[in-house]
Amino acid sequence: LVGVTAEPLSLPLGYPVYVGTGLLPEAGAIVAAAAPAHRYAVVSDDTVAALHADTVLASLPSDRTRLFSIPPGESEKTRERWIELTDALFAWGAGRDTTIVALGGGVIGDLAGFVAATFMRGVRVVQVPTTLLAMVDAAVGGKTGVDTRHGKNLVGAFHDPSAVVMATETLATLPPAVFRSGLAEMLKHGIVADSAVFDAVLAALPDIARDGAFSPHLPALVADSVRIKASVVAKDAREGGLRQTLNFGHTIAHAVEHAMAYRMLHGEAVAVGMVVEARIAERLGIAEEGTASLIESALAKAGLPISIPDGLDPMELVAGTHGDKKNRGGSVRYALPSKVGTMWRGDGSWSTVVVDDVAHSALIASSRR
Ligand SMILES: NC(=O)c1ccc[n+]([C@@H]2O[C@H](COP(=O)([O-])OP(=O)(O)OC[C@H]3O[C@@H](n4cnc5c(N)ncnc54)[C@H](O)[C@@H]3O)[C@@H](O)[C@H]2O)c1
Ligand SMILES: [Zn+2]
Repeated sequence: LVGVTAEPLSLPLGYPVYVGTGLLPEAGAIVAAAAPAHRYAVVSDDTVAALHADTVLASLPSDRTRLFSIPPGESEKTRERWIELTDALFAWGAGRDTTIVALGGGVIGDLAGFVAATFMRGVRVVQVPTTLLAMVDAAVGGKTGVDTRHGKNLVGAFHDPSAVVMATETLATLPPAVFRSGLAEMLKHGIVADSAVFDAVLAALPDIARDGAFSPHLPALVADSVRIKASVVAKDAREGGLRQTLNFGHTIAHAVEHAMAYRMLHGEAVAVGMVVEARIAERLGIAEEGTASLIESALAKAGLPISIPDGLDPMELVAGTHGDKKNRGGSVRYALPSKVGTMWRGDGSWSTVVVDDVAHSALIASSRR
């Protein structure tokens, strides 16, 4: 790429992914090389824009670049904001020769990505994730979309970015809890695909606790995590099979998030979900004994929650795993580990049926006593 010094990761994807500390001032050069356009629309949220938009804007041609910012938060990932943003692009005179730059966490990545997927039937997008979760999870894989009152991410499209710029220095301004919640997904990637990655994250936790975003280990750990996500997505982009393994911890996490009315960070819910689901796997004889406690202790070291929040009823959570409260006394399919680093695969499927009783008892075992 012209004018870009850093080397992208070597990944089985059709687009370059850059990871590094101090990369944000390079964003414009990467955008201009990977997705040159007449206009550059930087889409962000007000929190991220106040902290990091100037650096990105300064790296792009000022007369052909504009910032479009919305309020922060999951509640803004809506069709209403999609309408607002697409209308603002038209009002600005943007046409097909426009590149969208998604600068923010997963909310902005998904929303701006969906704007890009649909604007004039699709324009290019460069993802510039600014949360750890967005780096290791949301920015790679091409899923975009918005929430509806019927559920999260229910309207969307697959739309690969033209490039991804992971400037780890942006993580320095994250609230600590939001930073930690990204560690849950990094540990998840190790659990589903590579125990060495799990061990490396675990070993770096004391350093990360001390140095945060400027831990010298962070770029390599982010890269490891992205490599895992990319290799899974490359083999199964549309979640027919292998991609289900990335849902480890998420069936319980979604039930917990729903029961908490989304007042809990996603990564925190995933942490709890992984502990419960590892217990389920042990109870079914799928996972090696000790898998759940290994996962539990790693998450605790990362400062993540490991038991279901007080006041949540295990029975209600079981109902929540069906996504439909009427459907009690049944079963749900889970993707489960056989040990840290390896997911269980039986009968040609990456998921297995779990009856409600087993989920219920694992939830009780994960409640605070
Ligand atoms: N497309 C996918 O494959 C995929 C995968 C995982 C998650 N997601 C989506 O990602 C979303 C969650 O992402 P998230 O956790 O990044 O949430 P988020 O985008 O809401 O960001 C969390 C908070 O941190 C703030 N923030 C972001 N970057 C900051 C920075 N550098 N400094 C200070 N504050 C900053 C934001 O303003 C926000 O308040 C969900 O909507 C989820 O559905 C998508
Ligand atoms: Zn997740």
